[in-house]
Amino acid sequence: MTAKRAIPHHIAIVMDGNGRWATKRFLPRVAGHKKGVDALRACVRRCGDLGVRALTVFAFSSENWKRPADEVSGLMELLAVALSREVPQLQAEGVRILFVGDRTRLSEKVRNGLAQAEALTAGNTRLTFNICFNYGGRWDIAQAAARLAARGEEITEDNLAGAMALAHVPDPDLLIRTGGEQRISNFLLWQAAYSELYFTDKLWPEFDDAALDAAIADYGRRERRFGRTSEQVADPSPRVSRKAA
Ligand code: IPE
Ligand code: IPE
Ligand code: MG
Repeated sequence: MTAKRAIPHHIAIVMDGNGRWATKRFLPRVAGHKKGVDALRACVRRCGDLGVRALTVFAFSSENWKRPADEVSGLMELLAVALSREVPQLQAEGVRILFVGDRTRLSEKVRNGLAQAEALTAGNTRLTFNICFNYGGRWDIAQAAARLAARGEEITEDNLAGAMALAHVPDPDLLIRTGGEQRISNFLLWQAAYSELYFTDKLWPEFDDAALDAAIADYGRRERRFGRTSEQVADPSPRVSRKAA
């Protein structure tokens, strides 16, 4: 069992490898995405049980529109169905669901499902579950800058951070990517500045409790320095902060 102090407050995940999982089994890619929902359900539960306070998952990138039309529509349908099926249980588990991304291009059905899930779970505090859908890190930075400009506010790091789509949670401590690729693919470009990165060859549908525990155990062995020296981090007297003291 991982020590309590080593549990990341916020985990972000690029859930990659659904298509390959399906193709290996001679199944359509959408079957892999469906299996991915099962893996996600288990992951949300495990995070809650371990005391992780925020989980942010990449479910559909702003570039995934380039995929074949039947896969895109399959993913839209899957989101709507998964929301209606899973939300009651998530509500019972104290999970707050938040949609993160550009919803303007989504169908009314999907937009309504998201709004209902957010409204129903708004009072939950056990685990904040951010679903990044039609999300891109560059979109996020641009929309934050546009908001500041519209309000006539100065472009500063703090103001931008406050206008980003994930301003309601601290930056991710641990960023996991399944599926073997070692890249960010336009996920949390701003927020991952000091995240610990963890890459695994496991495909997302195979990412089970043991795989999550292994990622968290690996995180527990990292030394986070935020620009300081190892000696400074080892000395517990001055508070270690990412901001200059
Ligand atoms: C990730 O799995 C899920 C989405 C991008 C929606 P992929 O569909 O990218 O799976 P692979 O990378 O093709 O195996
Ligand atoms: C990243 O996976 C997006 C999601 C997991 C939603 P992709 O499969 O789209 O990333 P690339 O194209 O391999 O970089
Ligand atoms: Mg992929």
